[in-house]
Amino acid sequence: MTVIEGIVEHGDQRGRLLGFPTANITVSDDEVSDGVWVALVRLGRGRWAAAAVSVGRRRTFYGETGPKLLEAHLLGHNEDLHGQEIRVELQVKLRPQQAFPDVQSLTEQLHHDVQQACDWAASHYPGLVSAASTETSATGPATSNMSYV
Ligand SMILES: Cc1cc2nc3c(=O)[nH]c(=O)nc-3n(C[C@H](O)[C@H](O)[C@H](O)COP(=O)(O)O)c2cc1C
Repeated sequence: MTVIEGIVEHGDQRGRLLGFPTANITVSDDEVSDGVWVALVRLGRGRWAAAAVSVGRRRTFYGETGPKLLEAHLLGHNEDLHGQEIRVELQVKLRPQQAFPDVQSLTEQLHHDVQQACDWAASHYPGLVSAASTETSATGPATSNMSYV
């Protein structure tokens, strides 16, 4: 299992506009290969969250030249983690990175990724994420329904 630890940095804030805010850490090719993953993330004070995690260069926006980032979209958490140290444990690879033709196609795929992450977390760590969290909301991403204990 790949484990990444780092201090959360400021992103471009585009993720918040898309409805998928992320906690970002700069990573190198030596540390982790590109892809989209389900992960467990340790927040401060020993708290854990499940997350849909992107590792790559945001090819939809930056081609092959963007900085390589790990971006964790935490399920059911909406706190500002900038400046905090987090530990990310990649559990299951969902798919490779893609360059999408437009923002809408990327957003549709993100909804799908988050739903898969919710389903995986609910079946493997039911104590971390409640069963209600796996239902997709008609009004937004699955995370709008997340309820963690
Ligand atoms: C689960 C997940 C999967 C992602 N997959 C891709 C991808 O396949 N291709 C891509 O260009 N960006 C992907 N991204 C990154 C988004 O483009 C990025 O989070 C968004 O542009 C916001 O960037 P920002 O943090 O700089 O604001 C993914 C992000 C998440 C959370």
